[in-house]
Amino acid sequence: LIIKPDYGTVSEWIAKYIVQKINLHNGDKPFVLGLPTGSSPLGVYRELIRLYENKKVSFQNVVTFNMDEYIGLEKGHAQSYRTFMEENFFNHVDILPENCHIPDGNSCDINRECIQYEEKILQYGGIDLFLGGVGEDGHIAFNEPGSSLQSKTRIKTLTNDTILNNARFFNNNPSDVPKTAITVGVSTIMSAREVIIIACGHNKARSLKKGVEGSVNQMWTISALQLHPKGIIVCDEDATTEL
Ligand code: GLP
Repeated sequence: LIIKPDYGTVSEWIAKYIVQKINLHNGDKPFVLGLPTGSSPLGVYRELIRLYENKKVSFQNVVTFNMDEYIGLEKGHAQSYRTFMEENFFNHVDILPENCHIPDGNSCDINRECIQYEEKILQYGGIDLFLGGVGEDGHIAFNEPGSSLQSKTRIKTLTNDTILNNARFFNNNPSDVPKTAITVGVSTIMSAREVIIIACGHNKARSLKKGVEGSVNQMWTISALQLHPKGIIVCDEDATTEL
């Protein structure tokens, strides 16, 4: 657990760490980076773009896999996770579009899409570093409370809490939030060689407590990180109030 004073210093620390890993990576095969959406990673993306503009890093040898995507939002929908990633990161750096993987929430065969997503990750030799955020109920990606710690990429029905929480991105209208999503599983995340979870703000204090001091269990999927040999949570002071 790494505690920084505020959101800005959390974001800077993580971006610098990722850049270091990319730059130290053996160039024969691409660096495989798992990425999240949500408000938590926005500061990291801003900082990565700044480091790219200052020529401290290139993403030409980086392949990305996003954690999740809503099912059924039409292509180009402002709130689809693909649009989010393009607007907040991909369009601002030199990453190759064909190297950016996001589950297709409009696939005509969602189950096959999930299986193929896992296969694609394996074809690239697994994920080197998975970055993630955490929900107020401790979920990572869309692994809602009750998700098996052995889960792989699959369809998940969102909990009412998550729908209400994410309604802020849908004009505060919960009925516009998709009810299902494709998400990588807890085990997909834990199979990455390194995992970094961002936990910032008072509203993440309970998740941080459950994740760090609670037992490892499927109701707070962030707790699985305790079993990862290279699992890091980077948080701000505000998130530590229940520790
Ligand atoms: C969604 C995403 C998660 C994210 C969570 C928290 O449920 N699927 O990946 O961690 O929201 O979002 P935020 O970072 O906006 O608090």
